[in-house]
Amino acid sequence: MKTIKNIAVLTSGGDAPGMNAGIRAVVRAGIYNNLNVFGVKRGYDGLVNGELIPMDAKSVANIIQRGGTILKTARSDEFRTVEGRQKAYDNIKKLGIDGLVVIGGDGTFTGASKFIEEFDIPIIGIPGTIDNDLAGTDFTIGYDTAINTVVDAVDKIRDTAESHDRLFVVEVMGRDSGLIALRSGISTGAEAVLIPEINVDYDAIMKRLDKTRKNKASRIVIVAEGDKEGGLVVAEKIQENFPHYDVRLSILGHIQRGGKPTCMDRVLASRLGVASVEALIEGRKGEMAGLICGEVHFTPFNKAIKHLDDINENLTRIVEILSL
Ligand code: F6P
Repeated sequence: MKTIKNIAVLTSGGDAPGMNAGIRAVVRAGIYNNLNVFGVKRGYDGLVNGELIPMDAKSVANIIQRGGTILKTARSDEFRTVEGRQKAYDNIKKLGIDGLVVIGGDGTFTGASKFIEEFDIPIIGIPGTIDNDLAGTDFTIGYDTAINTVVDAVDKIRDTAESHDRLFVVEVMGRDSGLIALRSGISTGAEAVLIPEINVDYDAIMKRLDKTRKNKASRIVIVAEGDKEGGLVVAEKIQENFPHYDVRLSILGHIQRGGKPTCMDRVLASRLGVASVEALIEGRKGEMAGLICGEVHFTPFNKAIKHLDDINENLTRIVEILSL
């Protein structure tokens, strides 16, 4: 097994609260294990352009509580090309980097897999995306904070909806995944939740909305961004069906990606940061560190990026049962 001396860490794809806690953990665990640690700016773009900076313990002080990512992030087009990856490899070699930790989602791990295939670089991934749409971990870094942000926003919307007897359609993030919508829907008492994983039965939804009217002044319908039609069309359909309803649409957008990470996200990021450095030292590569039932597990990138369509049907049932 090759002894590693120099490692680098980057954040890539959409930012997620808790990424800074992950960077801090990688840097400090690296230093603790006598490694030199570099930070890569702007995700894979920084690897391609040689934007690597040495990190010390002080460089990650006072960031565990901050949202966003101090290393910045990007969705790199150049790294998708063979020439781009060659440039990235040259920069890595120049600095003698022999291990990489990448924090991101499925796009990040797809890029990492290609890079390993071509250049045999040891890379360990940490799941960092608000969408929670990776296999091999119960939760991704940022998901808990994001759903709490949604819950806070929807509680506020409920106040005004209740005062005006209105129905609000609230669109939340999740390009391919309804997990933000489903959990926040249950915890805000939404009357219906529409997600990309399940075909919408509009007749059933309309019946449910009408039925709930006698018990409730306000109704909330949560729609995941990745739903076939999206919040606007759903709101229009409901309004057409029930012209006498006072329907409003609220798209929460990028507010869901910002803010202080919750305790859960900070602990998750800290645990996976330490685990990823230890994994590189042990000679692992091409795997994502995740937490399953409270224990660290490693999952090959190609399995981690498999988007799971098997939504827990019990959760959708709970929305219906409790919407009365
Ligand atoms: O991947 C996380 C995510 O927040 C998705 O839910 C959303 O569709 C996407 O990023 C938005 O990305 P961008 O900020 O690049 O438009």
